[in-house]
Amino acid sequence: MLKFVEILEDKPKLVNRSFDITIEKIKAAIAARGQCTIALAGGSTPKPLYQAIKDTDLPWDKIHVFWGDERYVSPDSDQSNQKMAREAWLNLVDMPAENIHPMPTGAKDPTVDAANHERELKEFFELENGEFPVFDLILLGMGDDGHTASLFPHTEALEVSDRLVTVGNKDGEPRLTFTVPLINNARCTMFLVAGENKQPALEQIFASNADEKNYPARLIQPKGELWWLLDRAAGAKINN
Ligand code: 6PG
Repeated sequence: MLKFVEILEDKPKLVNRSFDITIEKIKAAIAARGQCTIALAGGSTPKPLYQAIKDTDLPWDKIHVFWGDERYVSPDSDQSNQKMAREAWLNLVDMPAENIHPMPTGAKDPTVDAANHERELKEFFELENGEFPVFDLILLGMGDDGHTASLFPHTEALEVSDRLVTVGNKDGEPRLTFTVPLINNARCTMFLVAGENKQPALEQIFASNADEKNYPARLIQPKGELWWLLDRAAGAKINN
């Protein structure tokens, strides 16, 4: 793993930096392999990144978009991570519909939808049983409780090692989420973390010793690159 930590002056600078890295990763993946696979995050921090990407001239047909987690709501709900990314970016560019791979939420049973999405990933990435996909880029947020994707502290989802997608649990509410081994198989994962309220959890995540079940973002140790982009408010106590 190659780890990069950058503390940017404020949120707009953080977004600019994440934009530059994202565009570089998309172009590099397309140059090397003919396409780019990217997984998106929800939350408020990545939204201006998506809005900036939509104004870029990219070969949209060579980009395949997935989500690292999704609330278990319909795609037209204001809670939907898919809806946010579609409105900020995907609906506004000429990306073929088949390049957009949302997590399904229509089966009325999150376990069934998790299994359906796992099947879709296996087909798309042509995986054998036991293999994990290699995403070019997985974007991640972090909550002030140290969760990332829908991997919440002290939940069963943290332990899942033999699946690509599982059911997360936020205060009893189901979510769909990529599993830790899937995320850790990526070529690049990038956290976007802004705001003073993230400081205490970040301190624990960067500490030499802390419980991963308390701070699930500690579990993210990808084979490829790990980027932490923090604004100054979030990163004030991080020794970089
Ligand atoms: C949730 C939140 C969460 C979010 C982080 C960071 O579903 O519980 O959306 O997963 O990604 O809390 O959010 P911000 O980018 O808004 O700080």
